Amino acid sequence: MHEIAPPLLQAENLSRHYRVGQGLFRPKATVKALDGVSFTLRPRQTLAVVGESGCGKSTLARQLTLIEPPSAGSLRFGGEDAASADKVRLKTLRQQVQMVFQNPFASLNPRKTVQATLDEPLLINTGLSRTERLERIEALLAQVGLRSEHLRRYPHMFSGGQRQRIAIARAMILQPGIVIADEPVSALDVSIQAQILNLFMDLQDSMGCAYVFISHNLSVVEHVADEVMVMYLGRAVEMGPKAQLFARPLHPYTRALMSATPALRKADRRERIKIHGELPSPLNPPPGCAFHKRCPLAEARCSVEAPQLRELDGRLVACHRV
Ligand SMILES: Nc1ncnc2c1ncn2[C@@H]1O[C@H](COP(=O)(O)OP(=O)(O)OP(=O)(O)O)[C@@H](O)[C@H]1O
Ligand SMILES: [Mg+2]
Repeated sequence: MHEIAPPLLQAENLSRHYRVGQGLFRPKATVKALDGVSFTLRPRQTLAVVGESGCGKSTLARQLTLIEPPSAGSLRFGGEDAASADKVRLKTLRQQVQMVFQNPFASLNPRKTVQATLDEPLLINTGLSRTERLERIEALLAQVGLRSEHLRRYPHMFSGGQRQRIAIARAMILQPGIVIADEPVSALDVSIQAQILNLFMDLQDSMGCAYVFISHNLSVVEHVADEVMVMYLGRAVEMGPKAQLFARPLHPYTRALMSATPALRKADRRERIKIHGELPSPLNPPPGCAFHKRCPLAEARCSVEAPQLRELDGRLVACHRV
């Protein structure tokens, strides 16, 4: 047996709650945008996070990149608790976790050339000479499928796919251990999406980084993931190796997401599961299992008692009915 690599990142009971006003004469309420999420990320691994709009995916991303402190729970980077890091250490940790956003039109500075965009992190964070920086930039540029003559151009001179390549290069330039990608292909033409997904995978091979890959699209997830976490209203409802989850999704919500993805429908042949209604307001989540009002399998217990994640058939699942 070979040794298991130490986890790059461990999230334990990570929560982020927001206090929001509900209008002039109503008291403030709490949105549990993220509510007790735990997972482990290992080197070179891709954890895909899926779930409907508003389930807390971007909130999770903001916690992981240390942009925003969690309300509760902990984040450990290589065993080191981020909460106990001082300013200098925090800066180093932040360099280790880089982010790629959904919209490459908004995430790149329109006034900066590609070269300036890629040079800035190196200038601020490394002691490399001008020549060394240019070498690193040119090597990475080739890896993301762009050419040296692109260096002097501005973002508006590129297509959406090319801009996302630039944004990916910017995330990779400091050779981070972890890259958080928040819906990185959702804004791109379908014909371009596969190219960008393949680029992510090639870069993982050559640079050895781990990904937290956020997507609402299960076909995308199937393409890139090693591990999958399905989220519903700020919590993980099912989590485990991709092969297990896709071969036999257990949580009714996971099964519903899969039945709603035409290319995956045959993965869940047993019966088609449909969800009705909208995602409930996170300001006022239903008691018991947050999914029970939309769940075709719900019984009395589900509206009273919140199911905890438990191990079943090679993954974790939070459901009374499976
Ligand atoms: N700064 C904030 N203040 C108050 N509520 C917030 C804040 N940020 C997020 N929320 C709320 O937290 C919940 C989760 O939001 P989040 O953006 O993480 O969802 P998401 O899964 O990324 O959705 P999408 O797929 O639409 O990007 C939502 O109900 C949202 O309204
Ligand atoms: Mg989001």
